[in-house]
Amino acid sequence: MKKTTLLLASLFLYTITVFSQKEITTIGIQKNAKPVIISKHIYDHFAEHLGRCIYDGFYVGENSTIPNTNGVRNDIINALKELKIPNLRWPGGCFADTYHWKDGIGPKEIRPSMVNRWWGGVTENNSFGTHDFLDLCETLGAEPYLAANVGSGTVQEFTDWVQYVNHEGKSPMAELRKKNNKENPWGVSFWGIGNEMWGCGGNMTPEYYANVYKQYSTFMTDWTNSNKLFRIASGANVSDYHWTEVLMRDIPKNLIEGVALHSYSFVKWNKKGSSTNFDEEQYFTTMQTALKMEELVTKHTEIMDKYDPNNSIALIVDEWGGWYDVEPGTNPGFLYQQNTMRDAMIAGTTLNIFNNHSKRVKMANLAQTVNVLQAVILTQGDKMLLTPTYHVMKMYNVHQDAQLIPIEFNAPSYTFNNKSLPALSASVSKDKSGTIHISLVNIDAKKENTIEMDIKELGVQNIKGTILHSPQLQDHNTFEKPNTINPKVFNQFKIINNKLYVTIPPFSVIVLEGK
Ligand code: AHR
Repeated sequence: MKKTTLLLASLFLYTITVFSQKEITTIGIQKNAKPVIISKHIYDHFAEHLGRCIYDGFYVGENSTIPNTNGVRNDIINALKELKIPNLRWPGGCFADTYHWKDGIGPKEIRPSMVNRWWGGVTENNSFGTHDFLDLCETLGAEPYLAANVGSGTVQEFTDWVQYVNHEGKSPMAELRKKNNKENPWGVSFWGIGNEMWGCGGNMTPEYYANVYKQYSTFMTDWTNSNKLFRIASGANVSDYHWTEVLMRDIPKNLIEGVALHSYSFVKWNKKGSSTNFDEEQYFTTMQTALKMEELVTKHTEIMDKYDPNNSIALIVDEWGGWYDVEPGTNPGFLYQQNTMRDAMIAGTTLNIFNNHSKRVKMANLAQTVNVLQAVILTQGDKMLLTPTYHVMKMYNVHQDAQLIPIEFNAPSYTFNNKSLPALSASVSKDKSGTIHISLVNIDAKKENTIEMDIKELGVQNIKGTILHSPQLQDHNTFEKPNTINPKVFNQFKIINNKLYVTIPPFSVIVLEGK
């Protein structure tokens, strides 16, 4: 007994000595917060007909030597299943407002071609269409999120698409679907009504778009009882709060379930810089734009709260991620970039922001899944690699549909050139089995940071952890060395007197699990 007391006392003293040199951030639990579920759809993805995302990415065709299911690579299917990808947005992006879905059904040999005017001016032969996409979603166990062509389409074309994929009875489009060998409808709930209507979707004002939205939305029919439509209005560009204000003010609540928002992270929009060869200044600036997401969701939420105090309309961040110059020698219109620890920092901090705002943020789609922008998967011929962003998304998928435990803390600063950013980001949730998960990110490029949490308050005893870290911020996985960056077991934490102490190395992501 005496021995134990002595041991505990020396451990306590050791901790005090070790940590007294350091600044410790105490993370507390917010009392009296209303329970909120972190929607699994915060972990959604986006696949556009852009560069090598669909063709030579997901889709290699049925006759490819690369193992595939109906033309889609099996290695990608398996990796996305592992990720527990809840939903996939398709076919764009800007491409969506040029896409005529009827060109992508029926026998592939006779499908008409088009020019992909937004992305490299390449010929789109429509060999990957509605059936290919919706069947892929079924294989993945993911829900489809279809983006409709408002910019250059018609209400009739759009409502035909809804009927084609959702109507189970006798109707012109259901008959057409059956003729194309699909007896039962897929049942698609999520529909985007246009994309970036302030820009590539038609350069509209919010007032004009609100009217167009109402027209499209009015003629959408819930064809089945089981699949209630979830209609999403094309949302604001970053901090265009007026856009959100007008949509919330002018669109009646019975016509809308979600309002979107797009925001990317970059160094300078006109001089984005390399995805791998960047200095600390470029890193710091990228993180500044990434962390702006906190302000964006807060302010867009405030506007939504004003018009929708009962929280019936969701904020849907259906495009987010890092955007850099394309890899040297690749088509500038294809947006193919590498993915480093900088991207892991963007992913970890952004997902923490979404988790903590999950009362209003109900869906978010990382741009994009394969070979485009902040991709989770890159391919080259028959090779495939998982990026650091993939690993963060996988480490964090434990938060899907878990109950948010709201926290509070004063983050220490990450200072560079006399400018500061909050170095630490965190979110905590409790899943259905009662397991608690704590996700922590330290974005500081040089300094480790230590946190303290009361585990009695959290109600956990046994803790284990996983870390994503690499010696250099610029480190990335290559086709030659695909496993340079991989999550590892993390046990560099201590529990003393019911206090958990975790020292988080510079630019690393940690997820702790406790019961
Ligand atoms: O994700 C790439 C493009 O970025 C999308 O097509 C568009 O919506 C956004 O501007």
